[in-house]
Amino acid sequence: MKKYLLPFLLFLLTALPTLQAQKTSRTIVSPGKATALTIGLNKAGTPYYKVSFRGKTAVDWSVMGFTAKIFDLKDGFSLEKATVSTHNETWKPVWGEVARIRDHYNELAYSLKDKAGHRMIIRFRAYDEGVGFRYEFPEQGGMKDLNITAELTDFQMTGDHTAWWIPGDYDSNEHVYTTCAISAIDATRYNKEYAIATQHIVDMKAVQTPITMKMADGTHIAIAEAALVDFPALHLNTDNAALKFTAHLIPSPDPAVKSVNSAPFHTPWRAVLLSKDAAGILESKLVLNLNEPCKIKDVSWIKPQKYVGVWWEMHVGKATWDYEASQDMMSATGREVKGKHGANTANVKRYLDFAAKYGFDGVLVEGWNLGWKDWFGKWKDEVFDFTKPYPDYDIDELTRYAKEKGVKIIMHHETSAAVPSYERQMDAAYAYMNKYGMNSVKTGYVGKIIPKGEWHDGQWMVNHYVRVAERTAKYKIMVDMHEPVRPSGLHRTYPNWMACEAARGQEFNAWSSGNPPEHECILPFTRILGGPMDYTPGIFEVRMNTYDPKKKEVVHTTVAKQLALYVTLYSPLQMAADLPENYEKRLDVFQFIRDVPVDWDDTRILNAGIGDYITTARRQKGTQNWFLGSITDENARNFTVKLDFLAPGKTYEATIYEDGKDADWEKNPYPVNIRKIKVRKGDTLALNLAPGGGCAISMTAK
Ligand code: NOJ
Ligand code: CA
Repeated sequence: MKKYLLPFLLFLLTALPTLQAQKTSRTIVSPGKATALTIGLNKAGTPYYKVSFRGKTAVDWSVMGFTAKIFDLKDGFSLEKATVSTHNETWKPVWGEVARIRDHYNELAYSLKDKAGHRMIIRFRAYDEGVGFRYEFPEQGGMKDLNITAELTDFQMTGDHTAWWIPGDYDSNEHVYTTCAISAIDATRYNKEYAIATQHIVDMKAVQTPITMKMADGTHIAIAEAALVDFPALHLNTDNAALKFTAHLIPSPDPAVKSVNSAPFHTPWRAVLLSKDAAGILESKLVLNLNEPCKIKDVSWIKPQKYVGVWWEMHVGKATWDYEASQDMMSATGREVKGKHGANTANVKRYLDFAAKYGFDGVLVEGWNLGWKDWFGKWKDEVFDFTKPYPDYDIDELTRYAKEKGVKIIMHHETSAAVPSYERQMDAAYAYMNKYGMNSVKTGYVGKIIPKGEWHDGQWMVNHYVRVAERTAKYKIMVDMHEPVRPSGLHRTYPNWMACEAARGQEFNAWSSGNPPEHECILPFTRILGGPMDYTPGIFEVRMNTYDPKKKEVVHTTVAKQLALYVTLYSPLQMAADLPENYEKRLDVFQFIRDVPVDWDDTRILNAGIGDYITTARRQKGTQNWFLGSITDENARNFTVKLDFLAPGKTYEATIYEDGKDADWEKNPYPVNIRKIKVRKGDTLALNLAPGGGCAISMTAK
């Protein structure tokens, strides 16, 4: 790493003119010297920091601090103490993309005191793959409660980088990504999004984290957060001219107050991921490493799983969630109802049979409980009952049947965002699940939040999601959250928090303009940096007019790409989202979904370009078997990949599922060509991806 020494010395010399450099500035470098971080106070006693990567400035001098209701924490600081330490540990995640994770950093605790005697510590960690920092407020006289009115943290970029972003919406992260230069960031067009049920964009210059950027020299930088607990989510305001981002915290019901905390406390980590290329961003473990170790002692009941469910049939309009509507053939809102109630005993048995026959762990059943006639758009306090099934859902018989079949029913708790009502019922609802032998729940937060005035991404809701993770753990229940704040690596601490949707998922393809072919080539670089996504891949019948000739929606994909998503979109919880009858028509293609695992010992990113393509290879937990997924955006691509990751001396049977002749996401999405070959370590494979296409390969060691 000697090569970084000279640029690094130059970096140190470029201090802000006003910085009291000699007296207050401190620098730490990462263990392998790839990143360096300097902090200092300017003449006004305001903290500033700067980050370099491989000898070049990556974040230029940026201000730090807060304003608060009674006093500010932004200037007049003097340095009390700066303590440097180092940490080098390897830990094993309960489940994940790799079996072991190295957590190696140098740390600087920079302790400040302002003129009124308020103390604040800024803790920095320098990793070779980026930096993290957070603010800490130790117990102290003179500061107990802090009503934060703004976080002032800046991220001063060094050029007009290309950015992949979604707007800073307090209520939704279900947006399509925009790719543009920082100077062009503007969310005006998002105000027209009709398909998102609840959205609240207040600032056309605000974006959500994680935001990921590519610099002119190919360096990639992502701004994310880690361990989001007891604080609002971090969005960012963009200064298009200064090429700078400033923290934008989601407010409480009092718009002036963003967060209410009492010392001692600390903020979540602000993380800056750095890599020489796109693949390094996908390999980064920075967000996970900044989270606390697992808090659950006995993790033996936590198991990655694949599932099917009474789900897509509602999204495509074949069935309803709502029992009453299916009875009346007209819902209370006057909507026309086309199908029948999906969660009826006979239909659920059909899914249980299918799951048992093809080796799935679980069957999700949505629409099983009382409340659906009022579920959406009414902002009602009491909507759902989480212990009362509809009359056509025989829970005793289904529990017996599921047990006989060796399949688990996955509970569904749509809350309609009526959160206090859910909190009141949580214990009863989880005890009910225990009684009926269910160990997984999918929650949902569609609609405007109750308590009124709160937002999906605000401090109160952030605490709610953590409470759900903790409470479900108490009942040995795994949880998958839809419409929560986007994850920040808390699955390290609560590994029963398997996945979140928290982004625009597959469902949008069923009833909106959908997800463009590049969408799945952006998610792993942005949203999924914080944790697994329940995207629900695996749609084989991609044209919605199959269900209703009037429907025009299509899934913007080839079928082969749907298979590859099981490898490229990491999650320990993967749904085979399509209908059983669609899979039974193409059992040869379905075989890949049956075979692909959901827990891995090793992961290699073979190539990647944000918004363009991703090729990922993963080794199945406890075996030498490898699975490969390669996806592209709307462009056809040909890759040659080297299988140098395979175990030496072994012959593998590779089953290749590739886009068939003339496949094309728009014109011809269905053809999949399946072939088997023998491969060995060091062999090369040609991957030919159609427009909007993909390739999936299973490689079984013989
Ligand atoms: C939105 C969720 O993302 C989806 O998966 C679910 O089916 C509906 N809400 C109903 O709860
Ligand atoms: Ca959703």
